[in-house]
Amino acid sequence: VASDVDLIAEINRLKREKNAVILAHYYVDGEIQDLADYIGDSLGLSQQAASTEADMIVFCGVHFMGETAKILSPHKKVVIPDLNAGCSLADSAPADKFAAFKAQYPDHLVLSYINCSAEIKALSDIIVTSSNALKIVESLPRDQKIIFAPDANLGRFVMNKTGRDMVLWDGACIVHIDISLEKLQRLRTENPNAEFIAHPECQEHILSQADYVGSTTALLKYVVDSPNQTFIVGTEAGILHKMRQAVPHKKIIPAPASQNNTCACSECPYMKMNTLEKLYNCLLYEQPEIFVPEDVRVKAEASVIRMLEMSK
Ligand code: 13P
Ligand code: SF4
Repeated sequence: VASDVDLIAEINRLKREKNAVILAHYYVDGEIQDLADYIGDSLGLSQQAASTEADMIVFCGVHFMGETAKILSPHKKVVIPDLNAGCSLADSAPADKFAAFKAQYPDHLVLSYINCSAEIKALSDIIVTSSNALKIVESLPRDQKIIFAPDANLGRFVMNKTGRDMVLWDGACIVHIDISLEKLQRLRTENPNAEFIAHPECQEHILSQADYVGSTTALLKYVVDSPNQTFIVGTEAGILHKMRQAVPHKKIIPAPASQNNTCACSECPYMKMNTLEKLYNCLLYEQPEIFVPEDVRVKAEASVIRMLEMSK
C-alpha cells in the first residue's frame, strides 16, 4: 500500500502526463481538495467543466456532477473515483415518476436543481444551483407557473424569498435535513457571538434561524468577508477545510447533526467515497467513465446551457 505522499506525487504526475484536470467539490476530503485544480460550488464546477482545455476531467464529487461535466463537454473523457457516489436528491427523482408528475402540470415551466440525473435534466427547461436559483426565478415573468424539483427545501426557500408559488417535488438532501435544531440552539447559547450561516438545502426551521443563507461558495465568501470572528456553519463539514485555510484566526464550528457520527457534524457519505487511492486508480486506468446517451445529453445540455446563460 502506497503512502499518501507517494499517492499525491503519482496523482500529480499522471495528471500532467494525461493533460487531465481535477475538479473537486468543497465536500470532499481536504487532502483531495488540496490536489484539485479547481474547487467550487456546483455552478462554478459546471462553468469549469464547460470551459476546460484538458483532455480528461477527473471529477471528485458525486455522480450527477460527473454527468453534468459530460453533458457540457461530450468530447472529453469524464471519470469519477467511485461510480457509487450518488446523491439522495438525485435518487429522490426517478425519471419515469418525474415524467408522470410533470404531465400533470402541462402549462408549467420545469426548473430543476442541478442535483438530479441527466434524465431529469433532459425533462427540465432550466437548471438552477443554490447560487443562482433566486436570480433565475426572479427573472421569470411573475405569472409564470413553475415546477421546482427535486429539492423541496431549496424550493420552499426560493418561494419564501420571492413570494412566488411553485409546485414542489418532495426530495431532500439526507445530510442537510439531519441538522438538529435542539443541538444548534444549545451551541448558539454556548457561542452567543457566533453567526449562524446555512445552505438552502436545510429545512425551513433551521433556515429561519440563519443570519445568512447561501451556496457553499457564498458561505465561504461570507466567512472571509464578515467582521465576525465566530461562525456556526450549517452545511456539509467538508467546507470547513477551505474556511479554516482562508481565515485560520476565526473560529469555525460545524452545525450539529442529530445522529452521533464520528464528527458529530454533517458529513455526506457519497462525497466521502472519494479517496486518494480511488482518485489515483481513476487517473491511472481512466475509469470508471461517465457516459450519457446522446438523445438525453442534447436535451439536458439545453437546460444546463440556459442556466449558464442566465447566470452571466
Ligand atoms: P453547492 O456547492 O452548489 O452549494 O451545492 C451543495 C451540494 O449539496 C452539492 O451536492
Ligand atoms: Fe447530495 Fe446532499 Fe450529498 Fe450534496 S450533500 S451530494 S445534496 S446527499
